[in-house]
Amino acid sequence: MRVPAKVNLQLAVGPRREDGFHALVNVFHAVSLFDEVTVKAAPPRQSRALTELTAAGQSESHLARVPLDGSNLAARAATLLAEETGAGSPVDIHIDKRIPVAGGMAGGSADAAAALVACDRLWGCGLPRERLLELAARLGSDVAFGLVGDTAVGTGRGELLEPLASPGRFRWVFALSTRGLSTADVFGEYDRLRPDAPEPRLDAALEKALAGGGARALGRALSNDLQPAALSLLPELERTLEAGRSAGALGALVSGSGPTCAFLLGGGDEDPDEVAEREAGVVAALRSTGLCEQVVPADGDVPGSTVL
Ligand code: C5P
Repeated sequence: MRVPAKVNLQLAVGPRREDGFHALVNVFHAVSLFDEVTVKAAPPRQSRALTELTAAGQSESHLARVPLDGSNLAARAATLLAEETGAGSPVDIHIDKRIPVAGGMAGGSADAAAALVACDRLWGCGLPRERLLELAARLGSDVAFGLVGDTAVGTGRGELLEPLASPGRFRWVFALSTRGLSTADVFGEYDRLRPDAPEPRLDAALEKALAGGGARALGRALSNDLQPAALSLLPELERTLEAGRSAGALGALVSGSGPTCAFLLGGGDEDPDEVAEREAGVVAALRSTGLCEQVVPADGDVPGSTVL
């Protein structure tokens, strides 16, 4: 299975709900940074574990943050499917990671979405898509989007998805940090900084920008309520954002709960040569900060998890 990362075009965060989650309006946009998740029937083994996990593909610092036990969201996806269907023979799950780990791009959620679909096929469950989406939502706020992809707005705690008409293809650059940020920590810092958050709403300027297809309008409309909290926990991210902005990015923001920073370079009605030139400038500026572990270009939107 191939499954994309996401960036949030808008992340509006409301008050904390009674269940501990925050009310969100979350505009997801899938981008061409993919994890590949392979699920195979396991050979006979000594342990009675349902899943065994391996991971490769990312840098050492990112791989060190991938749990390889039952707490990995991909393993939890397999376990939930087995519990719900009564199916479930042991599987080996291999994750070839390209999506930053604990990076605010829903990499763990993407792997869970892929594992859910792969186990459903391997075990012959044949669950209807609605049911897979429901199980995905139970696993985490961003997992259902890994199945859906493209551009969609999530409400509730982010898991209730409505697809949006694709705004077209945009070019992005992502600056990966050597550090990870825990989503729960960033939401906790948000509560500290904004104890009286209003109910979240879809931004009219973003809707207009998405309907119009212009990269400049989209760049101006990007917003993330979690950004001040991520910057408070990792102040160096401000320098990363500023480096990309000064080098001509049309928009710059922290992706989700961070610490990955996203830079919009162009797309839609922009001249491709100008976009390429802007990209070269932004990539060079980000690299010269010495703050980014990797600087990776990608396009969005792209489809959700697909069988290879
Ligand atoms: O749903 P998910 O497992 O991705 O959430 C991870 C953590 O992020 C939650 O435990 C919670 O602390 C925080 N969160 C939140 N409100 C949301 C989504 C996530 O507070 N809507």
